[in-house]
Amino acid sequence: MLIVDRVEKSYKKDGIFSRERQQVLRDISFTCGQGECLGVIGESGSGKSTLGRLLLGIEKPDRGTILFEGRRVEERRARLGKISAVFQDYTSSINPFYTVEEALLEPLQLLSLPQREVQNRIDRLLHQVGLAPSYRKKYPHELSGGEAQRVCIARAVATEPKCIILDEAVSSLDGSVQLQVLDLLHSLRTIYGMSYLFITHDIQAAAYICDRVMIIHSGQIEEIISVEQLNDVQSLYARKLLQRVIM
Ligand SMILES: Nc1ncnc2c1ncn2[C@@H]1O[C@H](COP(=O)(O)OP(=O)(O)O)[C@@H](O)[C@H]1O
Ligand SMILES: [Mg+2]
Repeated sequence: MLIVDRVEKSYKKDGIFSRERQQVLRDISFTCGQGECLGVIGESGSGKSTLGRLLLGIEKPDRGTILFEGRRVEERRARLGKISAVFQDYTSSINPFYTVEEALLEPLQLLSLPQREVQNRIDRLLHQVGLAPSYRKKYPHELSGGEAQRVCIARAVATEPKCIILDEAVSSLDGSVQLQVLDLLHSLRTIYGMSYLFITHDIQAAAYICDRVMIIHSGQIEEIISVEQLNDVQSLYARKLLQRVIM
């Protein structure tokens, strides 16, 4: 469904007159099947979020192609309503002047549904992410971190996309809330059958929810491995992460 082929990305180094470029992603090729949860694990600065932005089509690779259902993701129509995203920073992801209801209306308007169906969907979405109907009228500042992230997740699934890019989506939530949101993501995937690209520096969270994980280091793929085989991972970086978890 998602096919990434030999993708490269670089950015201009700091300074207006600088001609030097920093290579952020090198020779990235992988696929993600329908309904699959693929983890993207790497330390800070390894290029994970850059990869996420390329997959969302909001930035273009220097070289290589990213196909979603056979079409380039840079084409707006190839991805509109079909690929969505949840980011780490849930506070800035929701407009502070929007109520939860208004925040959910925004993506739903893409679908031009009848008004009654829109209202039904809002009810259903709130229920599915575990928020009571009274949350409709709340503003972001009235929500806890976990609740705000649930709203962001509801927004991401609102159009029933085929793929969701989750960039450190649970990383700033604390322990038990993190686990609840991971369980929520898992159950939504069984309801809707979408694929997840689960970007994280947290190998434990990835192991909890993913089918396969891709280890990236300095912008390159070191290894792609199924979660069951994670104990046999070769990548030194991944081994270090795993040891930290076990100790
Ligand atoms: N828009 C940008 N302009 C210039 N450099 C960038 C930009 N975005 C990311 N980078 C650089 O690319 C590298 C990878 O960043 P990023 O993809 O955010 O990594 P990660 O999400 O794994 O922490 C970093 O060195 C970062 O400074
Ligand atoms: Mg990042």
